[in-house]
Amino acid sequence: MVRLIHSLTDMQEAAADAIAAHGQWCVNQYGCFIWLLCGGSTPGPIFRLLSEAPYSKEPFWRKTHFYWGDERCVPPDSELSNFRMARENLLDRLHIPDSRIHRMAAEQQDLDLAAKQYESILPAVPDLVLLGIGADGHIASIFPGSPALRETKRRVMAVEGPQYVQSRCRMTITPLVLLEARKVLVVATGADKAAVVMRALRIEGDVNKTPARLAHDTDWLLDGAAGKEIIEEAKREIKRR
Ligand code: 6PG
Repeated sequence: MVRLIHSLTDMQEAAADAIAAHGQWCVNQYGCFIWLLCGGSTPGPIFRLLSEAPYSKEPFWRKTHFYWGDERCVPPDSELSNFRMARENLLDRLHIPDSRIHRMAAEQQDLDLAAKQYESILPAVPDLVLLGIGADGHIASIFPGSPALRETKRRVMAVEGPQYVQSRCRMTITPLVLLEARKVLVVATGADKAAVVMRALRIEGDVNKTPARLAHDTDWLLDGAAGKEIIEEAKREIKRR
């Protein structure tokens, strides 16, 4: 389901609501909430909202285990680290114990071994995979043309991103994990995402060029700016009728 919420702050609040509601539902149903986080700038404000009342008071946090969908090959205290961004905006503020934080050790020398080790601790059925979307159409660290798009066995792998990304060396989940997840939520804000959101959600398209099409039929939460081309297309469709 694609939800477009014009105001950025309202969209961020809706994302926090959706995550908290799903987290509580999973704890009620299964006794825990396995949440794969993402990096980038979009989720930061959403994490911050979740770390404050009323969300911070929710009981499901005590049964939540935090994993990552991707990580850069940097130390966990690097300003490029997805783990550090989540620690500063959410985990420390909720006082989550280390026992329930399972970061990707992507700073390891032997990244293939580290990916194998991470795969061995990643639960078979994640309850939620939270994704941002890059302007080039990547999700997690599955970039256009990535070998991860053709992976049929591994659930976590070492990849090298394109020249234009920060920290080309990455660890990422593969599309298999998206297929296993109970819920995938893609969050996108800002006018610079309007074109790629359209490419990801239109009926036809090439996953190799726009990996976000892997999440084509999952849940999307957009602010007005990121949803602009979707709205324009819907208006054109109505005029054509
Ligand atoms: C990463 C992220 C990545 C991110 C997109 C969108 O490690 O870079 O996991 O997949 O979600 O690049 O990033 P923004 O939210 O900053 O646009």
